[in-house]
Amino acid sequence: DVTRDFAFGLPKAELHLHLEGTLEPDLKLALARKNGVDIGQSTVEEVQATYRFNDLTSFLAVYYPAMDVLQDEDDFHDLAAAYFERARANGVVRAECFFDPQAHTSRGIAIETVIRGYHRAVVEAREAGLSADLILCFLRDMSAESALETLQAALPYKDMFIGVGLDSDERDNPPTKFAEVFALAREAGLHVTMHCDIDQVGSIDNIRAALTELGAERLDHGTNIVEDPELVAYARDHGIGLTSCPLSNSFVTEEMKGKEIVELTAAGVKVSVNSDDPAYFGGYVGDNYLALAERFDLGRADLERIARNSIEIAWISDDEKAELL
Ligand code: ADE
Ligand code: ZN
Repeated sequence: DVTRDFAFGLPKAELHLHLEGTLEPDLKLALARKNGVDIGQSTVEEVQATYRFNDLTSFLAVYYPAMDVLQDEDDFHDLAAAYFERARANGVVRAECFFDPQAHTSRGIAIETVIRGYHRAVVEAREAGLSADLILCFLRDMSAESALETLQAALPYKDMFIGVGLDSDERDNPPTKFAEVFALAREAGLHVTMHCDIDQVGSIDNIRAALTELGAERLDHGTNIVEDPELVAYARDHGIGLTSCPLSNSFVTEEMKGKEIVELTAAGVKVSVNSDDPAYFGGYVGDNYLALAERFDLGRADLERIARNSIEIAWISDDEKAELL
């Protein structure tokens, strides 16, 4: 049977993790004090009391204002360094971490402050034996022009991130809105992934566009691809990875999507399990493996398969995969 030690100890890749979503209440308070930012709460309990959300919109309304406490390069470094420490305790051997530059540049922080701070923590993580990289995400509720400006501003630091993604509020912001910026990113040699996560009529069209028009190599969430057997076959045949986040799903959609994870895995799609925004959704990646196994009666072999999938769909060389498997 699956124990906590087994779920945490499995060597795994974490591929759907927002660094800004690892901001724990105690670090939030410490940074608020350090930077003289009034966040309206002064204890961990008071901060936790603000974590009331039942869908993506109500989550994002808590998530973005909290980022005000991140001001200088050390703050970004310290945030990522704290995550890498936690990741290691959760069996993570490879971490591909999202970050949202526009959530910081839009409040006057220079993009190089963000990238350099996070990258310094990545270099230290590597020195300590954890394979790590960054993925720059565009905020889809901002304009396509803003995404283009962000990519142009980030390209001088291209050796510090390996891919681009798309996050924030999906409603009325389909991936096709960003066709130009994703084409430019691919030309620059960057990997491409995107969030396809809302449960509403039409979201399957976003998945289809992401895969067949935008060049997405992975889908973040994306489990509602089960609605379309042709797209499931496409994902299987093209080795498209899915990065599912059970605990996050249970906040945002009231279910973990475990049935879909099991069904897609059985259909040969490489589904991984990840933590999304662990400081807000009640657990890191080991907790997600454990919760999924307990709720959907998965065994050790099922979790081993998911962990192996995560390494197989990571953006690393075949040699490095073989080393980590
Ligand atoms: N930003 C951080 N977490 C997110 C999620 N689960 N969906 C969309 N945008 C996000
Ligand atoms: Zn996410």
